[in-house]
Amino acid sequence: MESSKPSQIVKGVVEAAVEKVGDALTPDVPGAPGSAPPSLEEPTTPHGPLPPKDEQGAPDTRTPTGAETGVPKIAKGQQGAYLTTANGARLRDTDHSLKAGPRGPVLLQDHHLREKITHFDHERIPERVVHARGAGAHGTFVAYGTAEEVTRAGFLKKGRETPVFVRFSTVLGSRGSADTVRDTRGFATKFYTDEGTFDLVANNIPVFFIQDAIKFPDVIHAGKPHPDREIPQAQSAHDTFWDFVSLHTEAQHHTIWNMSDRGIPRSYRTMEGFGVHTFRLVDEAGATVLVKFHWKPKLGVHSLTWEEAQMIGGMDPDYHRRDLYDAIEAGAYPEWELGIQVFPDTPEETFAGIDLLDPTKIVPEELAPVQPIGKLTLNKTPTNYFAEVEQVAFHVGHLPPGIDVTNDPLMQGRLFSYVDTQLTRLGGPNFTQIPINRPHADVNDMLRDGFHQHAVHAGVAPYRPNSLDGGNPFPAGDREHAFVDTPVTVAEAPKVRASPASFDDHYSQVRLFWQSMSPVEKEHIIRAYTFELGKCYHQVIKERQLQCLANVDPVLCEQVATGLGLPVPQPTVPLAEVQPSPALSQVGREWPADGRMVGIVVDAQGDLGDVHEVRRAVFDAGMVPLLIAAHGGTVDGLPVQRTFATGRSVEFDAVLLAGAPAPAPDAVPARDAKAGAPGSATVDPRVLLLVEEAWRHAKVIGAWGAGAEVLHQAGVTGTPGVVTGAAGAEVLTEVQRLMAAHRVWERFPASVA
Ligand code: HEM
Repeated sequence: MESSKPSQIVKGVVEAAVEKVGDALTPDVPGAPGSAPPSLEEPTTPHGPLPPKDEQGAPDTRTPTGAETGVPKIAKGQQGAYLTTANGARLRDTDHSLKAGPRGPVLLQDHHLREKITHFDHERIPERVVHARGAGAHGTFVAYGTAEEVTRAGFLKKGRETPVFVRFSTVLGSRGSADTVRDTRGFATKFYTDEGTFDLVANNIPVFFIQDAIKFPDVIHAGKPHPDREIPQAQSAHDTFWDFVSLHTEAQHHTIWNMSDRGIPRSYRTMEGFGVHTFRLVDEAGATVLVKFHWKPKLGVHSLTWEEAQMIGGMDPDYHRRDLYDAIEAGAYPEWELGIQVFPDTPEETFAGIDLLDPTKIVPEELAPVQPIGKLTLNKTPTNYFAEVEQVAFHVGHLPPGIDVTNDPLMQGRLFSYVDTQLTRLGGPNFTQIPINRPHADVNDMLRDGFHQHAVHAGVAPYRPNSLDGGNPFPAGDREHAFVDTPVTVAEAPKVRASPASFDDHYSQVRLFWQSMSPVEKEHIIRAYTFELGKCYHQVIKERQLQCLANVDPVLCEQVATGLGLPVPQPTVPLAEVQPSPALSQVGREWPADGRMVGIVVDAQGDLGDVHEVRRAVFDAGMVPLLIAAHGGTVDGLPVQRTFATGRSVEFDAVLLAGAPAPAPDAVPARDAKAGAPGSATVDPRVLLLVEEAWRHAKVIGAWGAGAEVLHQAGVTGTPGVVTGAAGAEVLTEVQRLMAAHRVWERFPASVA
C-alpha cells in the first residue's frame, strides 16, 4: 500500500497554523474550534462570515438534480455581514423581546421572537433507529483498474477519482452515547460516481447476527436498552441481548467477533470494513462474478484494551470522533484499500462449501485472497455536523451499473428498510435533494412534489410514455450506461417461510475464529464473555450461553464458566475440524504510526534540553506530541496541552518522560482523586499513575535523563517495552520502532495456548 506523507503535511499544517493564528498556546496540535483565534473583546466591526477551517470540507454545490452550480461552498450556509431574519431582512436587536415597556408583557406581534423560537423548537429530527452515534468525513477514492475485468462500473476504471463521504458509527447507542463501547461499528461509504451514487453500507465485522432481515427488529430490540428502565445505554452486557443470541444461535459468530478486540477499536482509522453480503459484479459483456467487499486500513487493525475503553468512555466519550478529525486536521489522512474476494457465479452460489448467501459466514482470505481495487483517502472534516453527518442517507440499493445484489435474504430486506426509515427520519420523500445526498450524475426521474421539494421541475409530462414533453425522459440502453438487473435464474420452488439447510451450521466458523486468535486475543475474548455474562441478572441466560460456548471450544467454555462460577456443560454438537485463518488475528504484524498521540512529561524545573528536539521529531514522524506539565501555559516557550490534573494515560499511544517532576502544589488528595495514587516524596503521584496505567495497557514508555527516576519509582525499569537512554532522540527512535506493533504484547502473558 502506498504510504502518505503525513510528516511533511503535519509540519506544514503546524507552521501554517502558527503563522495564521500567531498564538503560541494553541496552534500546534489539532482541535482549535474556529478558523481564527477569538479576540478578548466582543468584535463589533461588521464583516462577512469567517471561512471554514482549512481541513473542513462540505458537499459539492450541485442542484437537486446533480448539475454543478459553481457556487462557492461557503455561500450556501450564510452570507453578508449583518444579522437577518430567515427571509433576509436585517435586524438590529436579537437580545430583547418586543415588550409593552421594559417591564411589561411580551407582544404577540414580535415576529422575530416567534420565528427564532419556533425554528429552535423544531431543530431536532429523529435519530437513526440504529447507528445513531456516528462521525463522518469527506475524501476521495482512486481506482487501481484491477476490477475492470470483472465489472463495467465506471468509477472502478484505472485512475478514476471519485468523491466520497464516509460515516462511521456504533450500532446500539443513542446519538449522544460514548464512542468506545463494545459494539459493532458501521463503515458506510457514499461514492458520488458519475453513473449514479454507490453506497457501500458496511460494518467492521464481516458477518451479521441474523440470516434473514425479518429478524432485524428482534436482534435490535434485544440489544437496545431494556424497555422498562431504558438501561443499559449502548452496550450488549445485559440480559435481553444474551437471552436472544443464546436462543437464536446463528448470532454466535457475530457475537464472538464483538467479544474479541474488534468490538473495541482503537480508532476508526484502524478498523477493517466489510460489505458482509456477497455482491454480483457485471462486466461489459454481461458476464458476472460474485464478490465480497473488504476495506483494509493502512494503519492495520488495532484495538483498545477493555480497561482503556471503559476509562475513555468517561474521560472522552467522543474519542473516536476526535481521533478522526484530529488526524485529518494534522494531515495524517486516514487511508484504506478497497479489495474484493472473487468467486465464480455458479448456480449453487457457494465457494469451498461455504454458502455465499449466508451472511453469518466468511470466506477465509487464505481460500480467496482479497484483491486490492482502489484506495480511499479521507482528507476533509465536515463543516456542519447536522447538514452532513446527520442528514446523510445511505441505502444498499444505491447501485451503479456493474454492481448488483444477490438473493442473500438479509440483503433483500435491507433493500426495503433504508428508504423506508429515511422517509420518517428526514421528514419526507425528497431527502436525495439534501446537499450531502445530491448525486453527481444527471438526475431525470419522474418523482414529483412532496415535503421539502427543492427541484423546480419544468414540463407537463412526468410520466412515460409521453409526447407532450417530447418523450423525455428516455430509457437508456446498455450502451448508454443503464443499470441492468442481472437476469439471474430463479429456481422453481414453492413459497415457504424457511431457510436452506446450508444455513444450519451455527458453530463451525465461530470455532474457526476462536482458533485463529493469538493467545492474548483469546484471553481478551474470555474476559469479554465473562464480563458481559457476569452483568446478566438471570442464571439461566448465562447457562444457556455457556452451552453455546461449549459448542465452540471446551477451553473457552471452561474459562468463562470458571469466571461465572458455573458448571461446564458438554457440547451438544460435534466440534468441527477447522483450519485457522491467520488473517483474522490482529497481532504479530507492524504498521505505521500516523497521527498517534505521544505524551511527553516535562519538568519545568528540570533539564529541558532535549524536549524541543523530541517534540519536533514526533511531529516529523507524523505523530502528535502533547506536552504534559504541572501547570498550563508554557514551559520553556512550548505550549502545554495537558496538566498532571487533566491528562490521563488513555489519551496517549506512548508516554515519554523528559524529567521527574516533584509533586505540584495541586497534588493534594482532597483536590484530585488521582493525586491520591501511590506517590513518593519526590515524584508527582499523578505522573506515577500515568506511567503505571500506560504500562498496564501495554504501551511503550520511554525516558531519558531524570525521567528514568520515574520508571524506577513506578517499578517498571527494564521491563519489556520500557526504553531508557542518555538522549531523547535516541529513546524516541526505539519507542517509534516498538510502537509499530501497537502494543508491547509480551506484557500480557497468556494462560491459554
Ligand atoms: C449486513 C448487515 C448490515 C449492515 C452491514 C448494516 C450497516 C448499516 C450501517 C453502516 C448503517 C449506518 C448508516 C449511516 O451511517 O447512516 C446502518 C443503518 C441502518 N440499518 Fe443497517 N446494516 C445491516 C443490516 C440491516 C438490516 C437487516 C436492516 C433492516 C432490515 C437494517 C436497517 C438499518 C436502518 C433502519 C438503519 C438506519 C438508517 C438511517 O436512518 O438512515 N440494517 N446499517
